[in-house]
Amino acid sequence: MNSLNRIAVYTSGGDAPGMNACVRAVVRNAVANDLEVLGVRRGYAGMIDGDFVEMDGRSVSNILQKGGTILKSARSQGFRTPEGRAKAAESLRAAGVDALVGIGGDGTFRGAVLFHEEHGFPVVGCPGTIDNDLFGTDETIGYDTALNTAIENIDRIRDTADAHDRLFLVEVMGRDSGFIALNCAIGGGAEMVLIPETITNLRDVKDRILALMSAQVRSSIVVVAEGEGLGGAVQLEQALRTDNAFDFIDLRVCILGHTQRGGSPSARDRVLAARLGVASVEALIEGHSNVMVGLTDGEVTLTPMRNVWTRKKNINFELVKLTQLLS
Ligand code: F6P
Repeated sequence: MNSLNRIAVYTSGGDAPGMNACVRAVVRNAVANDLEVLGVRRGYAGMIDGDFVEMDGRSVSNILQKGGTILKSARSQGFRTPEGRAKAAESLRAAGVDALVGIGGDGTFRGAVLFHEEHGFPVVGCPGTIDNDLFGTDETIGYDTALNTAIENIDRIRDTADAHDRLFLVEVMGRDSGFIALNCAIGGGAEMVLIPETITNLRDVKDRILALMSAQVRSSIVVVAEGEGLGGAVQLEQALRTDNAFDFIDLRVCILGHTQRGGSPSARDRVLAARLGVASVEALIEGHSNVMVGLTDGEVTLTPMRNVWTRKKNINFELVKLTQLLS
């Protein structure tokens, strides 16, 4: 690799709590290693437009505890085209950028790999997504905060569900993965959980709910992952409402949605972001490219970026049994 003088850092895809803490760690470790740093605003969209900002140690003061991302994020259609990527390469070269740190999820890394193949920029990824769906790290930055937000909200829903003897279908995010759903179901004491990794059989779901309600369970919470087989909580609600057996059940839906993406990062996410941000700069200095930094069994690891989405990070099926046992 050519000598490394100036790196650029960007956040891309869905924002996640802890992205700012990660940007701070990248910038401060780069400065500590005498590297110049540019921040790319609005992810790949900003890369195409040359929307860059000079960063130094002070420019990342007081951001560690903030949700969102000071660099902003976007899902860029332009970067999906070879023309868009060529324009981004031109903008980076004009700004004297030698290498990149990208903070985001699998979409961010797919773009990064393509960009590296076409234009040769060394790139290291930091896993930033609430979904926790990336192979190569035990947890992604933002997941722990999102999980805690979901559990806090389930606790609140439990209060009102109990006051009215209601059944709540609570939909949580996670795209095609059930990490948030499964773990907030256990942490929130949900009576049932539906996740994409298991087949949802509507008849079984109905029978289990009816059994719960006839067993004088006063309130019930079913956590529904947005990516599960029926299509989410609204679809499940429709299926239940059109069945006369559910006429006597007072049913409500609550979609937690983007509340799970916001808020101040948890201590766990801040520490993870700090470690991975620092490690990403070290990886670039050591000459690595096309890798994602992650934390596996407490140790920093490097995983070829392609593996991050071609290999599946499995949920723990023991936890599925646990929700059934404890409900
Ligand atoms: O990938 C993070 C995530 O929050 C998913 O859980 C969710 O499916 C998606 O992004 C929502 O994306 P958007 O904010 O673009 O609607």
